Order: sequence, then C-alpha cells, then structure tokens
Amino acid sequence: MSRMTLASPLRTSAAALAAPAYVEHRRLIEWVREIAALTEPDRIVWCDGSDAEFDRLCAEMVAAGTLIRLAADKRPRSFLARSDPSDVARMEERTFICSESPDDAGPTNHWVAPAAMRNTLEGLFARCMRGRTLYVVPFSMGPLGSPIAQIGVEVTDSPYVVVNMKLMTRMGRAVYDVLGSDGDFIPCIHSVGAPLTAGARDVAWPCNREHKYIVHFPEAREIWSFGSGYGGNALLGKKCLALRIASVMGRDEGWLAEHMLILGATSPVGEKTYIAAAFPSACGKTNLAMLIPPPGMAGWKVSTIGEDIAWLKPGPDGYLHAINPEAGYFGVAPGTSHESNPNAMATLRANVIFTNVALADDGDVWWEGMTRTPPAHLVDWQGNDWTPADGAAGRKAAHPNARFTVAATQCPSFDPAWDDPAGVPISAFVFGGRRADTMPLVTEARSWAEGVYKAATMGSETTAAAVGAVGQVRRDPFAMLPFCGYHVGDYFRHWLAMEKKVAHPPRMFTVNWFRKDAQGRFVWPGFGENMRVLRWIVERCRGQTRARDDALGLVPAYADLDWKGSAFDADAFAAVMAHDPQQWARELAAHDELFAKIGNRLPPELRAERERLAARLAA
Ligand code: OXD
Ligand code: MN
Repeated sequence: MSRMTLASPLRTSAAALAAPAYVEHRRLIEWVREIAALTEPDRIVWCDGSDAEFDRLCAEMVAAGTLIRLAADKRPRSFLARSDPSDVARMEERTFICSESPDDAGPTNHWVAPAAMRNTLEGLFARCMRGRTLYVVPFSMGPLGSPIAQIGVEVTDSPYVVVNMKLMTRMGRAVYDVLGSDGDFIPCIHSVGAPLTAGARDVAWPCNREHKYIVHFPEAREIWSFGSGYGGNALLGKKCLALRIASVMGRDEGWLAEHMLILGATSPVGEKTYIAAAFPSACGKTNLAMLIPPPGMAGWKVSTIGEDIAWLKPGPDGYLHAINPEAGYFGVAPGTSHESNPNAMATLRANVIFTNVALADDGDVWWEGMTRTPPAHLVDWQGNDWTPADGAAGRKAAHPNARFTVAATQCPSFDPAWDDPAGVPISAFVFGGRRADTMPLVTEARSWAEGVYKAATMGSETTAAAVGAVGQVRRDPFAMLPFCGYHVGDYFRHWLAMEKKVAHPPRMFTVNWFRKDAQGRFVWPGFGENMRVLRWIVERCRGQTRARDDALGLVPAYADLDWKGSAFDADAFAAVMAHDPQQWARELAAHDELFAKIGNRLPPELRAERERLAARLAA
C-alpha cells in the first residue's frame, strides 16, 4: 500500500513487530511491517487508546522533558509542551498535493509528481525512526461505525502525537472492531525525522530543522509527513485527512469537507437552527462556536457541534447534514479569556495538553490576553524568564500560535447531537474573513451562485496559525486555501453543483467582525455580541425578519437587529455596514487576480456573478 520499496532487510525484531491478537487486518499488519522495514524503529507499540496508555505515555514524556506536569490544584491532569522554535505552526510552503496530474492540484497547491515525491520520501524515511518507538494509532474521524465516518491509521514516532490523537479523535482498540479483517483505512505515516543514534540523549522536542514535508497522494488516499511534530503537520487526522484528502473524497462522492465550525442556535421558544461557518485559521471559530449571548438576549442559547471542521452530506430529509469528524479541540490559546470565551476557559479546567504557552510560578499556564494584567513573572514558551517589562518590549510570553488540546466532551456548551451519526441539518452557511475595511458586518447572498462567488473570493488577513508574514490580506476561498486537496476551480464547480443535491440548500451569509475605525480600533464589539447578527441570520432562515436589497447583497437595517442591552448606535452600525467605492475597486481587482490565476477551470457562473456585482456597485 505504501508503494515504497524496503530500505533494507527487516531490522526491527520479529517480537517487536507482533501485532496484538485483536488486530485481524492482514493488510494493515503487512503495511506496518513495510513501514517498520523502511524506518527501522527499535520498538513497535500498537496503541489501544486506553487511559492507562495515555497516562503511561505522558509519564514517560515528563521523564524525558517533553512534557511538564502542571500543578494538580490549578490544572489537574494537564501538561505543557514546548516545541522547537523551528516547529511552531503549519507550514504551507512545505505542504504538497501530489496528484497524478499537476492540473488536479491546481494553482493554489504545491505539486510534485508522485513518483518523484515518493523517491524523496523514501530517502527521508529510510532509517528515520532508529532509536525510537513506532506507535500504531488507529482512529475514526466521525462517530465509530457511522456510514459517514472514515478510518485512518497513523504510524508515528512521536508519543506527543499519540496523546494528542487520543484527545482529538476517536482513537483506540474499538477502531479495529470496525475495520475487521479487511475494512478500508487511510494510511498516515508520520516521523519527526530525528533518528537517535545509540546512546545519544534525546531532545525535548525532536524534529528535523532542515527537512519538512507534509505530503498528500489524493488518488492513493495516502498521507506522509516528515520533520515536524506540530499540530496540523503531525496530527494527520485533522487538516491532512479531514480536509485535504476528505475534500477529494467529497468531490468524487458528492459531499463536502469544509473548514467550518458547526453550532446550534436555540431561540427563546425552543426553535433550534444549525449553522456552519467558515473562517480562516485563528479568526475566532472557537469563540463563535461556544458563544454565550449577551445579557440583553435572554433565552437565546448556542450549542457546539464542532469548531474547526465539518463534513456535510445530503440527508434523506432534503437538508445538508453536518458532522464534526473530530472529537477534540486544538485551539489557539492567545486571546482566549473569561471575557472572550468563558466556555473555552471552562473546557480547559483539566485534562489539557498545552503547547507553547507560558508557565506561571504557581504551576499554571498563562498566555497573552488570558488576563488583563500579566503575572509578575513567567517562564516563556522557550523556557526563558519573562516579566511584564519583556511584554512591554514586545516579547511574547506565549507563542502567538500556542495551542490547547482538549476533548470536546469537556465543553459546557457541548451539543448532545454531536455524536449523532446522521449529523445535524444545516440552515445557513456563514463565511467570514478578518478585514479591517471593505467588508460589511453582515450580508446575505441573493442566490446560491452569489453565495459561492462571495465565499470563493473571500479575503482575510494572515495569522500566526501558519508560518509566514502575519496581517497581510490574501484571498482565502471558503477559508480552504491551505486545505483544499484539489484544483480550486473544480472545488468551486463542486460547490455550485451541491445546490441541486438537496431540496433545501442552506442560505448563504458573509460576516466581518474585524472592521476598524480610522484610529485602528475595532468598531464591532464581537464575541457574545455576535449573537445579534446570528439572530438575524436565524430569523432570515425562518422567514421571520426582513432584509433590504443592497449592492453587496441582502442586508439588515439598524432596526432589524436585536439591540436590547446594547449601546451600539445607528451611526456605528452604518460604519460597519458601509462600503467604500475605492476599497471595492481594489477588492474587485483582487477577485480578478484570483480568477486569472485559476484560469480556464473557473466556472463561468462566477465570472457572471462578478459582472453583476461590478454593475451593482457602479449603479
Ligand atoms: C487549525 C488551523 O489549527 O486552521 O485549526 O490552523
Ligand atoms: Mn482550522
């Protein structure tokens, strides 16, 4: 299955290779044997996903210096990991889609011919696990045994990956019951790329500073990742499987794999409406998915199905149904506070793995934005002393992409339908970028095609979630730029076609929580206040409120939103809804640039939408 030739005769001993009796899948056992022959680990551990295994691995990592145990009275059963400074975020430049044809990867992905890439990988993976343990990690994306779930098996030489996968997926022995003796699984091969020579001392965060590769073979449905131990580069169920490979499966099979949160909004009379919302990384998906409505909106409630990824399939009732394929959150810590997201803070009370946050003197953690006043002394994410004076000089205590990993079931706003194999019916799609100007607070698309156009041309300021410059506006179609596993023009075509696959396609909306004034201050208060916009969206879906026709779509008047308990006045509302002709001239030029890059695979419907928009703006 790996299509790699063996680097050398099998070096790992036969005893170390033996699979437990409950693993009956010959092809899987043979594949693990092949990977072991290539990578030459000292040991193989078939993970069962038990709490005992989790505790044992964490204890071993504490002894090895990879994890620091946090104070039991502050963060029970929680740990801090500090990564290598070269390994702190997703690496888009090192992420490859190796489809047979470069045209199938398209202009937004890095492509290398599969044979050439397999050659490179074979060289990198040869003997790369020497001195280490190869862990076999079986996992299900989606409820175990559900017809919409997919099974993956990750082999990795990182115990940090194993414990994170236990929190992020349904991981362990029960997966083998679903797989049986010949079920399908997506092979995911991961190595930190740092073999240990005999007797050498390991480092706390092994990785390969020189070579990093995150590789997808979409036709073979296979993932190989080398050199990084961090987040989406290494937890291969998440971005690699649940988005890049799953988006290809969705194209082939008539469904969608999206970078979307899923929330339920319940009205005071108990009507529940499910919404899926796409935002680029680190643009507040977790905050929106766990939102607590402001005091003035008593009776409204938000419940959380997912905060990063949605798989959407047409259901028998004519609605698109969404599941969250994940079982945990790998969320951005900086900016998370009792003010911005009380539910996240409650979720993080115990059983958390923190990565690259600061360590406080009382054995707890801290990050920028957690409290208004930082503690007088901390140890920063690189293990150095830190005081507020360092903060004033611009040195962060936590890395801006510091993360928490925690099981979804710990979230107080957790929706009971979360584990429902049938998923939840979606009434609205919301698309939002981080834009200081140009984009209004909220618009509704007049048609599915107009909604696809708006999502396709979405722009957003880049964040620390990926390596590279931060704060530059780039086109991020459907918030999927780093995650779409095939040609983006075909992806738009697939989205256009999905309208006809359901009797009740969701309505489409755009939002922008990040408008700034001339002084650079955010105009819209955001966080819980976003419920005012969500309420309008819900009521539009239910035909309970009105909208006005505007150049950019259907929009609410000030009076159409619920302002109970808010001091946000009509002038401020006009400011966040305004569109400026010069800004929109620039915006249209950016859409044109994107379309030129996409070339002849761009669906003509989107060109037509662009012309309609330009005409409306000119009118
Ligand atoms: C994430 C990301 O980790 O989008 O969710 O980067
Ligand atoms: Mn994400």
